[in-house]
Amino acid sequence: MSTSKFAVAGATGRLGRHVVDVLTERGHPVVPMSRATGVDVITGEGLADALTGVDVIIDVASWHASDQEAATEFFRTAAGNLHEAGRRAGAGRIVAVSIIGADRATAGFVAAQQAHEEATLSGPLQARILRAAQFHEFVGQLLDWRQGDVAYIPALPTQLVACRTVAETLVDLAADPGAAQPGPGVPIPEIAGPRRQTMSEAAALLGDRRGIKVVEVDGSGMPDAELAAAGAFLPGPHAKLAGPTFREWLDTQP
Ligand SMILES: NC(=O)c1ccc[n+]([C@@H]2O[C@H](COP(=O)([O-])OP(=O)(O)OC[C@H]3O[C@@H](n4cnc5c(N)ncnc54)[C@H](OP(=O)(O)O)[C@@H]3O)[C@@H](O)[C@H]2O)c1
Repeated sequence: MSTSKFAVAGATGRLGRHVVDVLTERGHPVVPMSRATGVDVITGEGLADALTGVDVIIDVASWHASDQEAATEFFRTAAGNLHEAGRRAGAGRIVAVSIIGADRATAGFVAAQQAHEEATLSGPLQARILRAAQFHEFVGQLLDWRQGDVAYIPALPTQLVACRTVAETLVDLAADPGAAQPGPGVPIPEIAGPRRQTMSEAAALLGDRRGIKVVEVDGSGMPDAELAAAGAFLPGPHAKLAGPTFREWLDTQP
């Protein structure tokens, strides 16, 4: 087994903390990078020191809001800085997470992931992307964004996946120097959960446990709602599907 050294950008986030756990459990030295650990992928503060001796960079840093323009700027700048600092430090490659449907989105946060993918894949370091479905852990965030006692959640189809499952698949990809380069006939890999459901169904399950009323809405007014309703953000036939289901995952949560 390789003992490559990894740096994780976004190490304190929903996904990032699982990426750090998986790498640590597999015996890899890990440098956690986030502003909380003194590393800023936008200003570059702390980046050169953090990347010293690192073989592989995993990029799961994220912008905190849904505005497309600001998120695009964040992802483009972060990817450029990680490449440049990684090149100077002698890192071998970068692996970043994106969202299933990023290539089909026309607006909003998901479309901003197009810029993330392009900037990540444009070098100079070798790069790979993993597109993930929406996270189980994201449903709670949707409930937290409600105004008042009721959460209005769109009945849009999704195939939610656990962050731990995404982290395992991302680490598999990052630890494999021979991972296929996407191109004609080789799609960007995808990871999703085992069960298709609507976001409102999942939110209602969580809402029941938290005592929050969930009202299903049609999603109009959201970016790309028609595309989403038509299944444009669901995994493709080549996607890896892996549990737990949202309900199984919920049963393991405190
Ligand atoms: N949420 C979903 O359902 C979902 C689905 C598929 C794909 N994704 C993608 O997965 C990735 C991770 O999402 P997430 O939900 O885990 O994000 P998150 O919980 O919001 O975490 C974001 C991470 O980025 C770090 N960060 C933010 N600004 C930074 C900066 N300037 N410098 C260094 N670190 C910075 C944050 O730490 P500090 O605040 O300490 O800096 C935090 O560790 C994103 O690309 C997202 O689009 C998300």
